[in-house]
Amino acid sequence: MPTEQPNKRVPIIAGNWKMNLDVAESLRLVREMRERLEAVTGVEKVLCPPFTSLAPLQAELAGSAVKLGGQNVFWEEKGAYTGEISPLMLKPLCEYVIVGHSERRQYFVETDATVNKRVQAALKHGLKVIMCVGENLEDNRSGRTEEVIARQVRGGLENVPDLSEIVIAYEPVWAIGTGLPATGAGAAAVVSFIRRTLAERYGDNAARNTRVQYGGSVNGGNIAEFMGESEIDGALVGGASLKAADFTTIVARTAEIKGSQAS
Ligand code: PGA
Repeated sequence: MPTEQPNKRVPIIAGNWKMNLDVAESLRLVREMRERLEAVTGVEKVLCPPFTSLAPLQAELAGSAVKLGGQNVFWEEKGAYTGEISPLMLKPLCEYVIVGHSERRQYFVETDATVNKRVQAALKHGLKVIMCVGENLEDNRSGRTEEVIARQVRGGLENVPDLSEIVIAYEPVWAIGTGLPATGAGAAAVVSFIRRTLAERYGDNAARNTRVQYGGSVNGGNIAEFMGESEIDGALVGGASLKAADFTTIVARTAEIKGSQAS
């Protein structure tokens, strides 16, 4: 009988601040959370503030285990692209970048093809990617969740040779910012489907070692339900990442629950 290998997936909690907090407010929030976040081990902690706060937070977090990420990245390196941020500009400031968030897809005409260009550009320049996928309410209600997710996963990862620097965030659009999260079991079923989709191209081992987060109305009160699912490797947190108490609780509970799953 084949023996189950323990997975190598370190849980990752990322805070997506979206278009919130100026530099002073960003520093204040980080100062409020920093000690409690650093006290937690066994969980990767990533803050994704607006671009304008990356440099000041990098200085503030020098020597800290708390990491930074951008919320988007353009695919060109430089040039006449007013308003865009190049991977070369992000690379010295942060380790991660979120790509393909549903708000980008919804309000800024992001497609799987443009998500893919951003993913490739980010990887080329040594940024780790949190690639978001998720079905909207209509797709969910009409039973098209898997079809949509498979298309987004395959399209976003076109020509990406390996998954070593990729995290997938499963974020059902209907759960984002609504206060109506998925259930733990429902999210875990889609996360398993994402791994099966990854396995088609990258093999079982790579799929098994790729981290997949859940996102959508996660808070300190419901994180345990999601982290209790061994398939789910952390969370992408929006609203609750702006509240020090909530975010630090999410990180601490994740460490406790995932620590006990590992042992
Ligand atoms: P939410 O956002 O936690 O506020 O629902 C999650 C996200 O958009 O990443």
